[in-house]
Amino acid sequence: MNLSTSTALVTGANRGLGRALTAELLSRGATVYAAARNPDQVDLPGVKPIALDITDPASVTAATKATGDVTVLINNAGISTGGNLLTGDPDNIRRDMDTNFYGTLSVVRSFAPQIAANGGGAILNILSALSWFSFPELGAYCAAKSAQWSLTNSLRVQLADQGIRVAGLHVGGMDTDMTRDLDGPKSAPADVARLAADGLANGAYEIVADDISRQVQGGLAGGVTALYPQLP
Ligand SMILES: NC(=O)c1ccc[n+]([C@@H]2O[C@H](COP(=O)([O-])OP(=O)(O)OC[C@H]3O[C@@H](n4cnc5c(N)ncnc54)[C@H](OP(=O)(O)O)[C@@H]3O)[C@@H](O)[C@H]2O)c1
Repeated sequence: MNLSTSTALVTGANRGLGRALTAELLSRGATVYAAARNPDQVDLPGVKPIALDITDPASVTAATKATGDVTVLINNAGISTGGNLLTGDPDNIRRDMDTNFYGTLSVVRSFAPQIAANGGGAILNILSALSWFSFPELGAYCAAKSAQWSLTNSLRVQLADQGIRVAGLHVGGMDTDMTRDLDGPKSAPADVARLAADGLANGAYEIVADDISRQVQGGLAGGVTALYPQLP
């Protein structure tokens, strides 16, 4: 797809990967709606800031009505509460699902008709290596990113005949606020954003952004005892 003639909307565009994706699309000539819960925090010149809380149906509807020309939707907004499925606060487990799964789904349901009416385009969901592999300490987040991966697979098939290509991006660690307290290798969000834009331009269905994600993806073929060697 030609990004320079596209109009993109990026959720969670005020910081982290969302900001990097917004800058990358802008540099490739796209028109970009930078959607954020607080659009005053959007600091990139040349973008169109727009208010959007993906967990608030009224906000999703308002953003859909305020646009009209979107052809590329990037579902980047996400949270990780650090919820443990057995011992964590059930409200946090629900929040992870409400944002990463239900929020993403709500935005897709609202914007897909707009993209189709504009002649088709693309949707990119920001997933994770943890869509494929669970760390029990982050069980709620892993479950939500797995669910978001599954919705990506369903919607890819369902929206193909409307001319909408649905892609998923899998990444391990990135250097953003979300991983501030975590150790381990972290990619620069700008590098991941470049790969994401290349993938969109090339029509990729699956963008695997780093070695950790590639390892986990390959490891799935080995079955659960290979992925979780701590199992008795
Ligand atoms: N960092 C990593 O290592 C990593 C790895 C794999 C995948 N990811 C995924 O990458 C995406 C971006 O994460 P990040 O690392 O850039 O995290 P981040 O720096 O914490 O940024 C999260 C963004 O999501 C927004 N957001 C959260 N809830 C929202 C809501 N209800 N409505 C609208 N916006 C909302 C935040 O807005 P506010 O500023 O208003 O809170 C912020 O802009 C997420 O989907 C995450 O799961 C991250």
